[in-house]
Parts: sequence; structure tokens; C-alpha cells
Amino acid sequence: MGTYAVSGAASGMGRACAERLRRDGHEVIGIDLRDVAVIADLSAPGGRAAAIAGVLELCAGRLDGAVMAAGVGPEPGREAVLAQVNFLGVTELLVGLRPALAAAGTAKVVAFCSNAATITPAIPPAVVRAFLGGRVEQVPELLAPFGIYAPSMAYGGAKLALARWLRRAAVSKDWAGAGIRLNAIAPGPIRTPLLDAQLSGALAQSVLDLPVPIGGYGEAGQIAEWVALMLSPAADFMCGAIVFVDGGTDAYFRGSDWPATTPPSGLARWFARQQAWLESRQL
Ligand code: NAI
Repeated sequence: MGTYAVSGAASGMGRACAERLRRDGHEVIGIDLRDVAVIADLSAPGGRAAAIAGVLELCAGRLDGAVMAAGVGPEPGREAVLAQVNFLGVTELLVGLRPALAAAGTAKVVAFCSNAATITPAIPPAVVRAFLGGRVEQVPELLAPFGIYAPSMAYGGAKLALARWLRRAAVSKDWAGAGIRLNAIAPGPIRTPLLDAQLSGALAQSVLDLPVPIGGYGEAGQIAEWVALMLSPAADFMCGAIVFVDGGTDAYFRGSDWPATTPPSGLARWFARQQAWLESRQL
């Protein structure tokens, strides 16, 4: 049986994942604001450092996997906190826990992305660049011109940047090279306290108007089953994947946009990547 760190383990999908892992006999080290082994506020650098230290101590330097589910929804005026929790609360934590994950040899990580990364239209590239460039504090200012849409842009932007960060890291020496499988799940609307808050808040109509071809909302337990599979040996060959479990919303909006081949304008980069791979094998 293994040892897994689960952020957001006190509620919703993180909690369902923690319960699912415990049912299988695994040890779970929960990270959250309350009701878990490692109480830490992921919206602040000190809280993230404390979370990393707490997990490393409890797992004695070896983790079989991690589930990064802590997150906040799009709420007006909370873009700064959202940017910290939903992006740095995942990326900084994973970087800090990486040595313990590498120690396991075949560790697996599932980060919580969202279909908001792809179905939120016109997320400014500058916002994604700010996340990826370590300038997260600039996000609220960059989004100020979007007015009532700023919270949704911050949410979608954080998840889009997270997906990019994860796919780039996943294939690198530090992660794939250390045997760590880094993947993400991208849920659509799932019945949790986060969704309930949205349904009773200023953005309720945008949730109610969302096209969900299969109908209704998902359940936290269904997502936990996917996460359990992505932490199991079935995922040994899975690396850098973003798994959409969203009732078909992403396919509805973007059925013809993805998968997409590399266009002629991207050929130089394609060959550079190929060359870098060949050179790395000669080392
Ligand atoms: P939830 O609100 O039920 O659970 C989120 C957990 O994160 C809570 O226990 C909360 O205390 C914790 N958290 C929030 N801020 C924190 C902080 N500063 N420090 C430490 N912990 C903190 O939400 P839910 O729905 O289970 O969300 C889980 C993940 O799934 C989130 O990353 C969310 O963005 C994502 N997601 C949710 C969807 C939904 O419809 N519910 C859809 C797509 C993605």
C-alpha cells in the first residue's frame, strides 16, 4: 500500500479522492485549511512552505503519489487569492514534494485542472504568461479591464497556465526522467461546495447556461474513480495527459479545434524538439 498527499482533502473532489484512496488501504496525508493532517493556507508563500515541510515529515521522504485538488472558484474581488491557490498552490507544492515523489520510482500525480481552461473564451495570453513567468501578483491588474468577467478569466487563466506548466514539466528529466507520471484531470461542473457557491452567487447564470451535452452535473465520487485509475499501474504509460470528464462541454465548443496537427509555421520548433531529443539520448 502507498502513501499519497492530497490537497483540498477536506471537501468536494479532494475529499472524495482521499476517501477512495483510504478505502483501497493507502495512507493519505491531507493538506487543507481544516480537518486534515497538514493544516496550511496555500494562498501564501509561508503556508505553501509549511505544507511541503509537513508532508515531507509525515511521509518520511517517500510519496507514491499526489492529488492536487485544493482550489477556489471564481469570485468577484478574489482574483489575487485565486491566482495564488489555484496555480502556485499546485506548482510550488509539486516542486517541493518532487524529491519524495522521485524516491518512489513510479510515483503518479493528478492535478486538478478544469475545462474552464479551454472553454473560457479569449483568456489573454499575457495572463497565462504572467502565471508561467512567476508574476502571479500581476494577474488581478491584467484582468481589471474585464470587469465582471475578471473572476472567470482568472479561474480559466490559472487552469490554462497550470495545464501548460504541467505538460512541459511532465516530459522533462526532473519528472518523467525521475519516473514521476504527471497528469491532470479537467472536470466540468461537478456537484461540490465550490459549484454550489457559484450557483448561488453572481455568476450563477453563466453556470446554468453552460452547454452540457450529456446533461446534469457530475459527482465527486465519479471523479475520484478516474483519479484512482490515474494513480494506479494502469497509468504507468500516461504522461502529460489532461483528461476531460465534463459531460461533453469541451467537445461541444471545440470539437474541430483539437486534436490539431502542427501547422507549417510550427515546423521549425517541431524539428528543434526532435533534435533536442536525439541529442539528449547521446549524452
Ligand atoms: P471544494 O470547495 O469542495 O474543495 C476545495 C478545497 O480546497 C476545500 O477543502 C478548501 O478548503 C481547499 N482550499 C481552498 N483554498 C485553500 C487554501 N488557501 N489553502 C488550502 N486549502 C484550500 O471544491 P471542489 O469543487 O472539490 O474543487 C476541487 C478542485 O477541482 C479545484 O481545484 C477546482 O478548481 C477544480 N474544479 C472544480 C469543478 C467543479 O465544478 N466543482 C470543475 C472543474 C475543476
